[in-house]
Amino acid sequence: MARVLSGVKSTGAVHLGNYLGAFRNWVADQDSDDAFFLIADLHAMTEPYEPSALATGTFDVAADLLAVGLDPARCTLFVQSHVPEHPRLAWLIECTVSFGELSRMTQFKDKARQRETVRAGLFTYPALMAADVLLYDADRVPVGDDQRQHLELTRDAAVRFNNRFGETFVVPEAAVPAHGARVMDLQNPTKKMSKSESSPLGTVLLLDPPEEIDRKIRKAVTDTDTEVRYDPEKKPGVANLLELLAAARGGDPATLAGDFAGYGPLKEAVSEAVVEILAPVRRRAQELRADRGYVTEALRLGADKARTVAAPVLDRAMRAAGLLAPAGGFA
Ligand code: TYM
Repeated sequence: MARVLSGVKSTGAVHLGNYLGAFRNWVADQDSDDAFFLIADLHAMTEPYEPSALATGTFDVAADLLAVGLDPARCTLFVQSHVPEHPRLAWLIECTVSFGELSRMTQFKDKARQRETVRAGLFTYPALMAADVLLYDADRVPVGDDQRQHLELTRDAAVRFNNRFGETFVVPEAAVPAHGARVMDLQNPTKKMSKSESSPLGTVLLLDPPEEIDRKIRKAVTDTDTEVRYDPEKKPGVANLLELLAAARGGDPATLAGDFAGYGPLKEAVSEAVVEILAPVRRRAQELRADRGYVTEALRLGADKARTVAAPVLDRAMRAAGLLAPAGGFA
């Protein structure tokens, strides 16, 4: 069985991009593979946040992931800060990758540009993400398109560490879905759909009620033309709707374009397909948010399982790097 690992930041409400680019593939992976999924709460600290909102955000994302269909009996779902091996291995990775490599990360550059003060953690965060993956000997990492560069860095770090210190880490591969890997903002279709507050109409949230989903999709920016054609360069808004439909219903966006005589019917079909997927998730998430005991217990079980895998890998890496092992080992 292959080992799979992926994660999601714990800040902000999760959205349709997270669902189509990542979560629904995770649900499939838990049946075919040995799957680990983490809620990256340490990542959430790399940008300004409210302490009172951090724990709530982590809990809510956990409830949402369970609502989507992750099952604690079939996968390992845990919170990053509950497994202390993560920041410990991150240090070894920080001492493996270079300043230049971290400076080239486009997500860092984008986020740093928006802030006067940039936290050191925002800069080094790709090393922590690499540690998330390498601690589990993951073969495959199912992510959306925007995580490709971080995965390349993870692979480079693993190869470099192995070359320098001997075979220690499995070198993982990114798995990016054919459709839905880069869901764009409905109001600004040249920008990816994201958790930022700046575009509430452009982002379909996982827990939006059906009327709200319908409203956002009907208001999606297209163009002044009327022809439904798949052309991401010249018609990014229409292409995004066709991508969404392909991701939600199956099929190929260019072929699906032929089914629609205008933007109205296309939007109606996209709205129906998205509502059909998200309505049951919303119902289940509402139940789970009220069931604190179930969610808390699922996360306890997950952290226990995660540590049994992560601890020996950390021990192996610390020893390989040449550190003096304490009596009883590093774990
Ligand atoms: P995050 O929280 O930004 O996103 C979680 C997952 O959702 C995907 N995604 C999208 N897919 C399609 N269209 C979009 N508009 C869209 N927006 C987000 C992301 O590609 C991702 O797969 N650093 C990671 C979390 C993380 C992680 C890891 C991932 C922490 N440790 C280890 C993989 C392995 C992040 O911030 O994802």
